[in-house]
Amino acid sequence: MDILHISGSPKGDRSDSQKLAARFLEHYRALHPSHAVRSVDVFDGRANPDFGAIHAVHKLAPLFGEPHTDAGKQAWVATEQLIEDFDRADKILLSCPMWNYSVPWAMKRYLDNLMQPGHTFGFDPATRQHIGLLRDRPVQLILTRSSTARCDDHDFQLPYLQHVFGSMGIRDIRVVTACATTQPSAQERHAYVESFSSQMESAADAF
Ligand SMILES: Cc1cc2nc3c(=O)[nH]c(=O)nc-3n(C[C@H](O)[C@H](O)[C@H](O)COP(=O)(O)O)c2cc1C
Repeated sequence: MDILHISGSPKGDRSDSQKLAARFLEHYRALHPSHAVRSVDVFDGRANPDFGAIHAVHKLAPLFGEPHTDAGKQAWVATEQLIEDFDRADKILLSCPMWNYSVPWAMKRYLDNLMQPGHTFGFDPATRQHIGLLRDRPVQLILTRSSTARCDDHDFQLPYLQHVFGSMGIRDIRVVTACATTQPSAQERHAYVESFSSQMESAADAF
């Protein structure tokens, strides 16, 4: 079994989502010592390369009847590697804070690399819907927020992630949301994160 942890906070040891993910993985590893756990930090530009003009032109060239350029092909190598590294995983753990109602820009860039027509999704012209091209597999989301509640109308983090994974054919999505991480003291912040320990363990048991 190959587990991929996509880590979406730049805060390292100070990250709430990272602390929760660490608790989840500690329990998971104890249950499944033979499973390999890889991780990708979306704020690491080597693991999650830039996605700009050259990539956008390369991506749509076949749809526009244009040839792929050498520069485009070269830029595409890192994107294809990211897709391959993702698709090798049997299970995905994604931990991520909310930033301005959605995911941090680096997580968006990771998903911009990952969502490629013909690789991870197709398009049905009759229904004008995307068709997932990846095999379904468990995805555990661990989402942190300061204040935005899980069912808030302005939550563009969870519905966005659910939609993106669903578009690629991945629908077995489990969610833990910690919605009140901003507490007045370090002690209270610690206690709040710790209050999710049993949820982390149950989620790891079921993963
Ligand atoms: C740039 C930025 C934007 C944020 N936007 C929101 C937001 O829209 N809603 C919210 O509830 N919390 C927001 N927060 C708070 C974080 O989601 C919260 O502190 C979270 O626990 C951070 O997780 P982390 O420690 O894993 O990075 C924001 C924090 C930052 C730094």
